[in-house]
Amino acid sequence: KMSLFRTKPIDTLVAEGSDEGRGLKRELTAVDLVALGIGAIIGAGIFATLGTAASGGGTLPPAGPGVVVSILLTALACGFCGLCYAEFASLVPVAGSAYTYSYATLGELVAWIIGWDLILEYAVGNIAVAISWAAYFRQLLLGFGIEFPAFLATDYRSTLLAAKAAASGGVGALSAEQSVAYQAHLHHPELFGVPIVFNLLAALITAAITVLLVKGIKESARVNDFIVVLKVATLLFFVAVGAFFVKPANWTPFFPGGFSGVWMGASLMFFAYIGFDAVSTAAEECKDPGRDMPRGILGSLLVCTILYVAAALVLSGMIPYQKLVGVADPLAAALAWVKQDWAAGLLAAGAVFSMTAVLLVFQLGQPRILMAMSRDGLLGPWFGKVHPKYRTPHVGTILTGVFVATFSAVANIDEIIQLTNIGTLFAFALVCIGILVLRYREPDRPRKFRVPFVPLVPLLGIAMCVALMAKLPALTWERFVIWLAAGLVIYFAYGRRKSRLARA
Ligand code: ALA
Repeated sequence: KMSLFRTKPIDTLVAEGSDEGRGLKRELTAVDLVALGIGAIIGAGIFATLGTAASGGGTLPPAGPGVVVSILLTALACGFCGLCYAEFASLVPVAGSAYTYSYATLGELVAWIIGWDLILEYAVGNIAVAISWAAYFRQLLLGFGIEFPAFLATDYRSTLLAAKAAASGGVGALSAEQSVAYQAHLHHPELFGVPIVFNLLAALITAAITVLLVKGIKESARVNDFIVVLKVATLLFFVAVGAFFVKPANWTPFFPGGFSGVWMGASLMFFAYIGFDAVSTAAEECKDPGRDMPRGILGSLLVCTILYVAAALVLSGMIPYQKLVGVADPLAAALAWVKQDWAAGLLAAGAVFSMTAVLLVFQLGQPRILMAMSRDGLLGPWFGKVHPKYRTPHVGTILTGVFVATFSAVANIDEIIQLTNIGTLFAFALVCIGILVLRYREPDRPRKFRVPFVPLVPLLGIAMCVALMAKLPALTWERFVIWLAAGLVIYFAYGRRKSRLARA
């Protein structure tokens, strides 16, 4: 067998799972899995990206109120991929991720590509969540009469864009978020002629989470249940209050950007669904993975879709979508627009809390994926190091924290969301391909759950992921290709030789 396609036998994977003294208790039910999914899903996507998708962010075709259809389309894509995740999880029932599954099925090269690509989903995705967290947190502080300095709450490039917008349209036409950036443009300190403008808030929350995770916090089902209730309550609160201020006139035209706007909206709103795949990592801990895994994945997708559709309808009915260009906290901004500042404040608090939970989930997941890759010899051994006292993968956790904090301080949220989406869509498509390959190669291996209508469902998953990727701007594609190329260089220079399978 060609070594690029050497696979890690599933039996080895399962054995390693119990080796590590995991032997996890099988006690999670379908409802627990739905809660787990919601805990990872509801975050910056609905609290921030929704505004960008509806308005087009000033440069892309707007979805307008039609963002509701964008949400349904991207939910459908996630549903197809979710079924494939469920089959994988029931086939390779170890606490893993797409990386682990593909190592067992598609071979080392693809596994490496997925592992490397998952950095875009986890670490890069969290850069966006941290930036969105900072925007909502600054609004929250404003509600308490505290004005956090603008030059420490935005990135340098946003200040240039805001200055340009002010020069062409006048200061009065700036959105709330642009105003923050414009203030930072006008007032910022300089060090040796270098302007000091960075998102200190985003970096600080990342640092705080990193410290927590190095010391080790247990994911407990009880804490997660509380977080889920709060997230759902926050969105229901928005819908309930906002519904009183809906002006149906705002819904015409419903599709200002035509189908192009809707599809663009879908490729952005995809971010709001990232995280349902985390459900599959609990396969080792659920009572009946064959039944509960698909229910957990599809259930969390369904609950979030209902909430998202309601929130999108209300948002686009409350405020003309054009007003959401460059607004990082659209749900709070809409409540402020209808003069319900008390509600905007409460919503901001709920959003800050929700996004903190998302940050935790992905900052927790990233080092564990790196650890799995390091144990397989594809990454340096330091990623697998476990802290002697805290028993956490501290090196990977800290490196992830430094990476996320650094970029969240300087990056533009819209570009980061696009990069996350392209990478994650690619990983999802590979998971769908994996299901097809495995049905062909190992048709008889027992599967507690089987994707219905193979090959149709995986093929539809692949097609939708590719079509959503295709809609993302050229600059995002360039970055994605560079990222993958860098990954390939690292693999051929390091992992290919150091792989445990190579040495076996
Ligand atoms: N789905 C997650 C969010 O919206 C990543 O924040």
